[in-house]
Amino acid sequence: MKAVIATRNKGKIKELKELLSDFGLDILPLDHFPQVGEIVEDGDTFFENAMKKAKTVSEKTGLMAIADDSGLEVDALKGAPGVYSARYAGEGATDEQNYLKLLDEMKDVPEEKRGAQFRCVMVAYRPDGRWVSAEGVCRGRITYSPRGEKGFGYDPVFVPEGDTRTMAELTREEKNKISHRGKALGILKEKISELLS
Ligand code: IMP
Repeated sequence: MKAVIATRNKGKIKELKELLSDFGLDILPLDHFPQVGEIVEDGDTFFENAMKKAKTVSEKTGLMAIADDSGLEVDALKGAPGVYSARYAGEGATDEQNYLKLLDEMKDVPEEKRGAQFRCVMVAYRPDGRWVSAEGVCRGRITYSPRGEKGFGYDPVFVPEGDTRTMAELTREEKNKISHRGKALGILKEKISELLS
């Protein structure tokens, strides 16, 4: 069965293709469907945004669509940047601008209060309106300075629980095993069989 990944984020497409590679789905990128246009992520929750993306792409392509919405929730900032993670330092901000703003906000926060988590919600939506969703969380803490070149987004300033390296210092395989997106997709894979029958 064909499925469209409802994201234009190159980092996420790479990770999702890898995570879905053993699943027998023929994965097509959103770039193949110019009729879809821009989808505004204006929801207050990751679920609302993921649902809007999956539903819109499925309706406009006539194919199953898989969308995710994700972000970083920092304890000391009461869950911010959350759904605003991609534009924390302003509309069109780079990953570096976003994580430098976060480090600045956190500069006086002591080690024991630097807990944070990545959260990811995924939705698979069929053109007939049937859908399933899944959520994954990856706990960790925020560093005082960036380290590592891999990954994307806030990876250089996030150390996952049980490790001393940042997410940006892990290999893709290592990250996929523990990441919020990896966990959400593991659950989604179990549920998606409901949609394939
Ligand atoms: P989305 O594209 O609306 O899901 O926004 C996700 C934003 O959250 C990204 O632009 C990153 O800033 C951040 N984010 C989500 N997942 C990750 C990750 O695995 N590593 C680092 N940053 C992430």
